Amino acid sequence: MIQRTLCIIKPDAVKKNLQGNIIQKISDSGFRILGMRMTKLSNETAGKFYEIHKERPFYGELCSFMTSGPVVVIALEKDNAVADYRELIGATDPEEAAEGTIRKLYAASKSENAVHGSDSEENGKAEVAFFFAESELNT
Ligand code: RTP
Ligand code: MG
Repeated sequence: MIQRTLCIIKPDAVKKNLQGNIIQKISDSGFRILGMRMTKLSNETAGKFYEIHKERPFYGELCSFMTSGPVVVIALEKDNAVADYRELIGATDPEEAAEGTIRKLYAASKSENAVHGSDSEENGKAEVAFFFAESELNT
């Protein structure tokens, strides 16, 4: 089933100029880019986007990290996009991520882990809509 998922190339990866490599890997893995934008998240936007983690001990650290520099937000589409993209990025902690995954290749730590990925079909749709109007997507 065709699904949408949201990639965010996080500030650590943009600072290291890894966005080109990461986008290439995503394209090579069969994802279609529906929308893409480089932006710097405001505290309000980051806080709202990660609201699901509000009660977690790392929420403050996560929001300040996500606003520490520019990010690239990318709306992706593919058959089985949510699971396939999470497989491509690997485990949250790069030390646990499989060989060849984006986090294994490019992430430095569990907090600063290069990329975001939606965790369900429903969230994939909602997170794409959080950043992109339907009318601006390459559908
Ligand atoms: P994401 O949402 O960014 O794709 O990451 P994820 O599903 O693999 O992990 P999640 O549990 O949703 O956590 C969201 C992000 O919070 C930071 N984090 N830090 N220091 C810590 O223990 C910790 N745990 C999570 C990471 O940036 C993680 O990607
Ligand atoms: Mg998550």
